[in-house]
Amino acid sequence: MAELLFGLKRTDMCGNITEAYAGQQVTVMGWVQRTRNLGQIIFTWLRDKSGVVQIVFDSSKCSEECFSIGESLRGEFVVAVTGTVSLRDEKAINDKLKTGRIEIYADSVKLLSRSETPPIYIDDEHPGENELLRLKYRYLDLRRASMQNMLTFRHKVVKTIRDHFDSIGFTEVETPILTKSTPEGARDFLVPSRLHNGDFYALPQSPQIYKQLLMLAGTDRYFQIARCFRDEDARADRQLEFTQCDLEMSFVEPEQVQDAVEGAFAKVFKNVLGIEKQLPLERITWQYAMDTYGSDKPDRRFGMTLKKLDDIVNGCGFKVFDDTIASGNTVRCIVAPKIFPRKEIDSLTEFMKGTYNIKGLAYAMVEDSGIRSPLTKFISPEKFDEIVKAADAKVGETIFFIADKLAVTRQALGGLRCEIAKRMDLIDKNIYDLFWVTEFPLLEYDEEEGRYVAMHHPFTSTMDEDLDLVETNPGAVRAKAYDLVMNGIEMGSGSIRIFRPELQEQMFNLIGLDHDTAWERFGFMLEAFKYGVPPHGGFAFGVDRLIMILSGASSLRDVIAFPKATNGVCMMMETPSGVDTEQLDTLGIALKSNKE
Ligand code: AMO
Ligand code: AMP
Repeated sequence: MAELLFGLKRTDMCGNITEAYAGQQVTVMGWVQRTRNLGQIIFTWLRDKSGVVQIVFDSSKCSEECFSIGESLRGEFVVAVTGTVSLRDEKAINDKLKTGRIEIYADSVKLLSRSETPPIYIDDEHPGENELLRLKYRYLDLRRASMQNMLTFRHKVVKTIRDHFDSIGFTEVETPILTKSTPEGARDFLVPSRLHNGDFYALPQSPQIYKQLLMLAGTDRYFQIARCFRDEDARADRQLEFTQCDLEMSFVEPEQVQDAVEGAFAKVFKNVLGIEKQLPLERITWQYAMDTYGSDKPDRRFGMTLKKLDDIVNGCGFKVFDDTIASGNTVRCIVAPKIFPRKEIDSLTEFMKGTYNIKGLAYAMVEDSGIRSPLTKFISPEKFDEIVKAADAKVGETIFFIADKLAVTRQALGGLRCEIAKRMDLIDKNIYDLFWVTEFPLLEYDEEEGRYVAMHHPFTSTMDEDLDLVETNPGAVRAKAYDLVMNGIEMGSGSIRIFRPELQEQMFNLIGLDHDTAWERFGFMLEAFKYGVPPHGGFAFGVDRLIMILSGASSLRDVIAFPKATNGVCMMMETPSGVDTEQLDTLGIALKSNKE
């Protein structure tokens, strides 16, 4: 060790040196951020995790050898500097640096490692530039102060979560990564088995089944900071592998699970942002969220809520609306707080048609002189008065209408209000709107497959009040399922589970899993359910998503140390990648075709 560091010992971190150190000798180690050579004097910024400090090589004060190494330093060289802390002249003070009131006059310097010219800028002045190259050189990008701060921030959040669950009697249990298909509904990542050629493990989409089995095992209160794997298209708020805080509790109703979860969120807000969250958090039902915001994860930081116009527009004379109502569908609207120029209407319409399966987007601008809209050809001024009143629109505002099936109308208007809010910059970034959405439907109808699918997952229990509907009207059954939502993003989901085997079978039947298939997929679980099941329920929230919102990042990639790019590739390791034929042989695998 001594040789590596020339017998030097670091005394301080760069960013921690203050005016109180004046006159003291210190040894700091780190990377050269930049260097400015003025001939007889060289100013070098040295960076470590704690920040940057200015080193001065003054030819009149240090040895020739020291000065000459100083001259040779380039960006990202790694050095150890021993020097004397000195207060800067008044006019040389740099208030932008934490250490901007001092500098270190080098007495000696050791070059520990050289660097080639880095392929990317390593500072926060060029943040988002060339993301793919940054991902390739992630270890360089992570040198940026903001990235190191992110890692520390993340650590603090996770520690707060762990401490919270520990303090309320939960036990953290690790569950396997090599496992079997789980019920979250995404595609599995498979791992071929060498010992059992032709058989595969699946990576867990979540620890769902294990945690339920832990409840059967009597663990009572389980949590885990768990890695999950889902083979889906990556997006800004989705990664192929991500981290959940996963938990499960025995002998509880939804309120107790929600209490445990919101307690964790409140502590995170307090510890990392200094914000007091009022508990209990607000709860709104799924039905209310869908009717009011057209979304089960509404962004409530702005208005433009949905209004139902069915009764008013019925028989209004505009064929699209009249036909829509006649066929049992719906006409709804939102009101945007401005008059849109024609070009913006066109671009919004184009966006909406490209994003949602809608037939059209009608609009009406409420102006001093009356209504301006393509629909005035069909709808009388008196009828429009009624519409404006029902929509609660004022002069200077625009009403947007969509007439379609209920699900399409809600979803499209829900999307439109977010798009308009974004374009009009209506969102207050300082608000963290955290709340529960409860009473989700148990099932949703999958048009493509022509059958019901579980809205959460097939182990989710019905609400007691709706038990009778399971036979008669399954689509109307509400579940003991709840999501936690923040600023329009789903933070987490959970439910009380089915614990009676008969109901579980019934649920599998409803979603078209016959007895044999159900046993094939979840047999070990159904078997376990024969041996005394405590009523139980739980929740999981996305740790990456939480960090993303709290740190104001716009993508999960910004809050994960080594993320995948949107095409699922790790640019740095170049994974996924091919393997030797020998390896495939051992696994008993032959590829169908070679890659291009
Ligand atoms: P769910 O599938 O809703 O529930 O996942 C819970 C939370 O995990 C986060 N999440 C993701 N984050 C990043 N990238 C992804 N691809 C991704 N997918 C999900 C979200 C989401 O809300 N086992 C159940 C929970 C339970 O019932 O207890 C589950 O996994 O924040
Ligand atoms: P048209 O008479 O078909 O040109 O439609 C007149 C206006 O109604 C246009 O602005 C269309 O975009 C709009 N429109 C057509 N179909 C729908 C629909 N299903 N919902 C809302 N607006 C529609």
